[in-house]
Amino acid sequence: MMKFVQDKVVLVTGAGGGIGRDFALALAREGAKVVVNDLGASVGGEGQDLARAEQVVQEIVAAGGTAVANGDSVADWDGANRMVTQAVDTFGRIDGVINNAGILRDRFFFNMSVDEWRAVIDVHLNGAFYVSRAAAPHFKAQQSGSYVHMVSTSGLIGNFGQANYSAAKLGIAALSKSIAMDMARFKVRSNCISPFAWSRMIGAMPTETPEQQARVERLKTMETAKIAPLAVYLASDAAAEVSGQIFAVRANEIFLMSQSRPLRSMHAGGEGWTPQTVAERAIPAMRPSFYKLDRSQDVFDWDPA
Ligand code: NAI
Repeated sequence: MMKFVQDKVVLVTGAGGGIGRDFALALAREGAKVVVNDLGASVGGEGQDLARAEQVVQEIVAAGGTAVANGDSVADWDGANRMVTQAVDTFGRIDGVINNAGILRDRFFFNMSVDEWRAVIDVHLNGAFYVSRAAAPHFKAQQSGSYVHMVSTSGLIGNFGQANYSAAKLGIAALSKSIAMDMARFKVRSNCISPFAWSRMIGAMPTETPEQQARVERLKTMETAKIAPLAVYLASDAAAEVSGQIFAVRANEIFLMSQSRPLRSMHAGGEGWTPQTVAERAIPAMRPSFYKLDRSQDVFDWDPA
């Protein structure tokens, strides 16, 4: 039987563990040649260890697949270029990029340090730009290519203590849409996946209150491997018409997420608004449609299927 991504060359960042490792394994099973990138850092982004990426390469090769390891950091422009160059030098081309590498430095906004802000923006938002941008000339020249970026409902919806991460992830959603628009003329596609899965990253979440403990127990039932089928599909030619979308995956559920559009409008007539009429007319008319300060878990408040 024809495999889904036969002979496609796909770079998966942060593929030494968690969701990215399952992407790499699933892509290889479906015939892709995979560049397994992982810095081998801690959840907070400290340290470096190529063994994490090499381990996944060994698993792929042992299963009869094709892969190479790369230990560069996505937060480094030169490193991002080396990953793409390694794909092209080793396998002759590059067909897909999955921006999956990530770290967490959670802290309430009022205590967040500039270093905590920068580290998370560097790996997620800047990293997604660097790796995508490094692959862009190849995608443009060959008139094909697929980007998949991992986002989060922490950014799409909201969460406590993740100003850096939320801002980076919503920024990536906008980056993906921009890539999709700018590169549509070259038949290059860009989409986002917002995953829910039990990984070491989620294992770093606080479990101090009974409510937090219950939430973590629920998260443990969501396997990282359940995210991979959508990512493999998006990397394949079957997804030729799919671009600029944001999906979410949670165990056996797949969601198409909304994107921002106007909800209500009021106009003031030719005389325009004054602060007074904004207070008296515009805000009361719009208030019924205001969003609550929802967190991800307030919106996804039922058990995963
Ligand atoms: P993970 O911590 O298991 O995997 C992240 C990987 O990225 C690690 O192997 C790490 O070594 C690597 N990495 C970190 N910094 C790097 C850098 N500068 N360059 C290259 N690699 C680097 O976490 P998980 O859960 O598998 O996360 C994967 C992606 O999914 C992340 O982007 C994360 O933000 C996102 N995500 C995960 C959710 C979940 O429920 N697990 C929820 C929402 C988003």
